[in-house]
Amino acid sequence: MNSTANPYFTRQKNESGESELRVEDSPLSELAERYGTPAYIYSKGAITYAYQSFSEAFASLPHQICVSVKACSNLSILSELAKLGAGFDVVSGGELERVVAAGGDPKKTVFAGVGKTDQEILYALELGIQLFNVESTAELYRIDELARERSLRAPVALRINPDVDAKTHAHINTGKDEHKFGIPLTQALDLYRHRENFEGIELLGLDCHIGSLITDLAVFELAFKKLAEVVGEIRSLGAELRYLDIGGGLGVSYTDAPGPSLDHYAAIVRQTVGSLGTTILFEPGRWIFANSALLLSKVLYTKETQTKRFVILDSGFNDLLRPILYSAYHEIEPVILESGVECEPTDIVGPVCETGDCFAKARPLPPMKSGDLVAIRSTGAYGFTMASNYNTRPRPPEILIEGAGARVVRARETVRELFQSELECLTK
Ligand code: LLP
Repeated sequence: MNSTANPYFTRQKNESGESELRVEDSPLSELAERYGTPAYIYSKGAITYAYQSFSEAFASLPHQICVSVKACSNLSILSELAKLGAGFDVVSGGELERVVAAGGDPKKTVFAGVGKTDQEILYALELGIQLFNVESTAELYRIDELARERSLRAPVALRINPDVDAKTHAHINTGKDEHKFGIPLTQALDLYRHRENFEGIELLGLDCHIGSLITDLAVFELAFKKLAEVVGEIRSLGAELRYLDIGGGLGVSYTDAPGPSLDHYAAIVRQTVGSLGTTILFEPGRWIFANSALLLSKVLYTKETQTKRFVILDSGFNDLLRPILYSAYHEIEPVILESGVECEPTDIVGPVCETGDCFAKARPLPPMKSGDLVAIRSTGAYGFTMASNYNTRPRPPEILIEGAGARVVRARETVRELFQSELECLTK
């Protein structure tokens, strides 16, 4: 779904006849009044629709969706997804605890990450997760040891590194040999060849995740073909292969241009790995959440210099890191739009004390004044989950909209909460 062609985020005339942005049936000015700003506003309908369309695209294949918790980890949202039948992809013991707290099923949860600690491995073993996606030979040895000590067998898929360039931002490109992720193909085959040496391990499959925000779908085709070849080689060793986890990574559009096509992606999956007789696991994050939320902010001040026109918002890069970290583009629009007003190039910045705290440069925007509301669109994935308390700024609340109803699913933090544990350590 694209950010603007999205039926859960629409413009309608308000009582004064102005065009006002709504999330489902909730006008944003009402939400700002009730909950304050900044605030993350999620549409439950958009999340449900994205999850169901993703699942329906693979209806003809035995599959399971393990929604990526790192993209959006709010307990109420995870709980809604669990009710729809979702499994989860986690990358830390903390995320796994979230899944459990939200009522998610550990048996439908896969655990990736290059640096799992003993404590995390033991927690996951005791819970009985579906799969450890193992990222190195050393990790496999450690999980084997810990499982044997407890007379357990750990279910494992080897995350292979197919040495394929995902052609995305360097920070989120993960499938080349030079990246820290996954096991080189030859090493993975060797581990399968010597699988009887690992009494504490039940080798059940392969995993592969080559990166995030992938828009050139040909890279998936390359990676999945390599995966299919390895499946053939593993089977020729007489090994069983039950699961093929093909990761996440499908990009979305952050503008009103069409984004990568889910149907095209599904066709690639079917052609490359669809007839291997395995259950296919998917780990979508961005695709489910990105266009399911916005960050509602207020204009604090405007100012003009000789060269620039600035709009200063009450949200900063501590609330939304993507623009500064990945030079990410997010649509930013006034909540209330008057017709026939001319736009001017504007730098939209936050209050954090760094020049990099800038959401957009020279963005066409109508004249704005203190108190006006703006929506930073497509912030449902990696928005709140990457927020921080830099500058001792409390993180925004998360609000879940369903029709005309709104529910706080995470309260706004208070400054006191941020340093309470320091106060307790303070010696005077
Ligand atoms: N599976 C694994 C093992 C991953 O590492 C990731 C994302 C996913 C699945 C989900 O990928 P998605 O479907 O969301 O592309 N903070 C960055 C994105 C980081 C992605 C990290 N791994 C951003 O804001 O663009």
